[in-house]
This record gives sequence, structure tokens and C-alpha cells, in this order.
Amino acid sequence: MSQPLILSLSPRASGNSDMAAACFAAALPRTVPVRYLRDFTVLPCLGCGACSSTGQCVLAAQDQAEELFTALDQASAVVLTGPVYFYHLPAQAKAWIDRSQSRYMRRHIQPRLTTTQRRAAAVIVAGRPQGARLCTGIERTLRYFLDIFDYRLEETLCLRGLDERTALQTSPTSLAAITALARHGTW
Ligand SMILES: Cc1cc2nc3c(=O)[nH]c(=O)nc-3n(C[C@H](O)[C@H](O)[C@H](O)COP(=O)(O)O)c2cc1C
Repeated sequence: MSQPLILSLSPRASGNSDMAAACFAAALPRTVPVRYLRDFTVLPCLGCGACSSTGQCVLAAQDQAEELFTALDQASAVVLTGPVYFYHLPAQAKAWIDRSQSRYMRRHIQPRLTTTQRRAAAVIVAGRPQGARLCTGIERTLRYFLDIFDYRLEETLCLRGLDERTALQTSPTSLAAITALARHGTW
């Protein structure tokens, strides 16, 4: 049976994004493993334009970006967790997102036959305690990235004031928000 993909996008091991992913997984009725983007090699997009005619990335055989896209293809839902770095996601995460350009171009070469969309959510952690637009850019990017894979980004939790590695562990309100998200409907 297909299961949700829970993926932490932080380069920092055992930090707040990892904790957010673990908290989400723990609130689900069945065991779902957490995966970590940092365990995968992902090269940055070269902007070569080859994918606009082939739908394939020239780097596909050199790294694991495609392996992660296949995980997105096969999941029943997706939950991404990650930190704010200079008002966006860390470079590794943005590199992976940029690499989906080949999938985006493939869509134009082979238009999708179905419009069924799966559930997606994001949990973003930020060191700053305030900032109305702290997660605005990330939310917009994730929405259009996930749409390529037929996911609808239903909710983005923007959890502020979490800077130290273990900050989320001692924030009951943030943990409760993640648990509520995980228990809202079927993932
Ligand atoms: C390079 C870098 C850039 C950061 N930029 C921001 C920022 O723009 N706004 C913010 O609120 N926090 C910023 N932070 C703080 C992180 O978002 C915060 O420490 C977060 O909890 C890290 O999550 P993690 O433990 O999952 O890696 C930055 C941290 C680093 C290392």
C-alpha cells in the first residue's frame, strides 16, 4: 500500500525540521519512516535547457534527485519540513526543487492524463520570533513545485522563534500544531 512521504529538508541533523518530521510521523495511526534530503546527493540545475526538448535531465544519472522524484510519484501524500534560510529554504532543498524543471518540461511534452491531486503539507521552522512574510516565498515555491507532481499544498505551518537545535522539543504549542495537522484527515 502506498504511504505518505515525510521528508526533512534541513542540512542540520537532529534539529527542528527533523523533530517536526518525527512529531508528524508519531501522530499518524501507522508507522511511516522519515527521510532526510541530506542523505541524498543532489546536484544543482545547470540551466542547460536540454530538458525542454527531451523532458530528461542531463544530470539524472549522476545523482539521486530523480530517486526522490520517484518517491514523490509513488507516495499517497507528502509532508515536507524545513528551516527558513534567508527567507527561503536551504540551498540543498532549493537545488532539488530546481531540478524538477525537467519534470515540469516533461509535462508540456507529455500532458497529464489525470488531474487527481494528493494531499501535501509543509512545516517550516524559523529562528525569528516575528515576521508576517517569513514563510511567504517558501510557501509559494512549494505550492508550484508540488503541483508538478499532482500534489495540492493544503497547509503550511510557519513555526517562528525556533532557533536552537532543540527548540521545537520545548515548544508545546508548536508540537501541538504539528500533531493537529497530522491528525486532520487521512494522510
Ligand atoms: C544560513 C542560515 C540562515 C538562516 N536564515 C534565517 C532567516 O532568514 N530567518 C529566520 O527566521 N531564521 C533563519 N535561520 C535560523 C533557522 O531557520 C533556525 O535555526 C531553524 O530552527 C533551523 O532549523 P533546523 O534545526 O531544522 O535546521 C537561519 C539559519 C541559518 C543556518
